[in-house]
Amino acid sequence: MTSLDQDSQKSAARVGLTSDTLRIHGGKPLRGRIEVRGAKNLVTKAMVAALLGDSPSTLKGVPEISDVHVVKGLLEAHGVRVDASEPGVLQLDPTNVVSAHFAEINAHAGSSRIPILFCGPLLHQLGEAFIPDLGGCKIGDRPIDFHLDALRALGATVEKLDDGIHLTAPNGLTGAHIELPFPSVGATEQVLLSAVRARGTTELKNAAIEPEIMDLIAILQKMGAIISVEPNRVIVIEGVEKLRGYLHTAIFDRNEAASWAAAALATGGDITVGGAEQQELMTFLNVYRKVGGEFDVLEDGIRFWHPGGPLAPVQIETDVHPGFMTDWQQPMVVALTQADGVSVVHETVYENRFGFTDALNEMGAHIVVHKDGIASITRRVPRRKLEQAAVVTGPTPLHAADVRVPDLRGGFSHLIAALAADGSSTISNVGIIARGYELFLDKLAQLGAEYEVVAPSA
Ligand code: EPZ
Repeated sequence: MTSLDQDSQKSAARVGLTSDTLRIHGGKPLRGRIEVRGAKNLVTKAMVAALLGDSPSTLKGVPEISDVHVVKGLLEAHGVRVDASEPGVLQLDPTNVVSAHFAEINAHAGSSRIPILFCGPLLHQLGEAFIPDLGGCKIGDRPIDFHLDALRALGATVEKLDDGIHLTAPNGLTGAHIELPFPSVGATEQVLLSAVRARGTTELKNAAIEPEIMDLIAILQKMGAIISVEPNRVIVIEGVEKLRGYLHTAIFDRNEAASWAAAALATGGDITVGGAEQQELMTFLNVYRKVGGEFDVLEDGIRFWHPGGPLAPVQIETDVHPGFMTDWQQPMVVALTQADGVSVVHETVYENRFGFTDALNEMGAHIVVHKDGIASITRRVPRRKLEQAAVVTGPTPLHAADVRVPDLRGGFSHLIAALAADGSSTISNVGIIARGYELFLDKLAQLGAEYEVVAPSA
């Protein structure tokens, strides 16, 4: 069994799945209302930010996903008291932060990438930090060079060891001028969490400005930070000596909302996503409308539905915010298999994010991945070797198959495809989906999906 398999099973167990294999009986539109809560890609970072305070923080809107459990374990290993007794609320008390043993950090981190964001807060609190070998979804090389270069620029010493990376900053961190080669979400968060208590001012150029980053900046400002977001992706952080705890409700999970929207389209259904907000989904909503999906922005959510008739093909290029997010393409590709014509999806953020299309082809889709891209398409972010394009020709009726979930978003797209397909599909390794989709089995049941959890083999 690989460590990713073990992680998937742990994820499944953490959210109450007895096995990580599902049998899905598809061909039925999903209909009804589900709620989305705080964004995985903010909540986990907000939990780390609590380490920077000298008093407890309270985070609300916390979803029941296994990535939250991973960060909780890591925080507890570092002496943070985490009280999760109230559903959806975390109380995080960082007043007794201590160094954790390598083995303990490794055991809690699993295949998560979050440990890298502990560097800045731990360097401030303890003068040293350790990062294990990092995992995360296998969707590309996922290097950490931007992170390490930024930490070095801020004055940290980085030492590579056999089992991870050891960082020290006995004299604290100092503000610096940093320019990211690409507006990386994680590296921007790294600089924010490290520079906020550094001596002096840090200017970060080519920063990511995703809504989750703006929410993290809001949290840090509540804690006492001085951070200004300037035009042209420049963020200026004036270091302060001390930060206090925060009280914050996390921004909603726009990736989960977009996934359920795509599920409504692919299954010919009608799903209201409670908690979804228009502002953070505008780019997605434009594409949804061009494909032929209908939506209605409500006071407390967004209703998404398939109005009947043929769907239209589109060209999509994934991009950093405010572009079409890379995490939205996988579920939308499933809907595009039902569009009448040829769609092209160009992936410009990760180098290997079309692995999930093999399983869709097994289910009857017609998707050809061009590893070197398509020359006739002019890309706004020409960069490195990120040239992959998927050409989706539809409409193709989907049929049942036995598939294995490769990663979080790819896995959700397999779920949607199985729900849209005629017949009964078996999907294994679904524990990965629990990393980022809160109570997805309960939500599927609420929407009328027919499935059963396959009993674990003895
Ligand atoms: C975050 O990953 C999200 N994860 C991803 O969501 C999301 O797809 C991604 O941002 C883009 O929006 C979390 O927030 C936990 P990046 P992150 O640094 O921060 C390259 C999901 O399914 N790069 O913006 O790791 C990198 O290889 C996940 O919810 C370097 O080259 O993404 C990639 O090509 C998957 N060197 C590009 O930058 C570095 O040091 C963007 O990555 C860092 C990144």
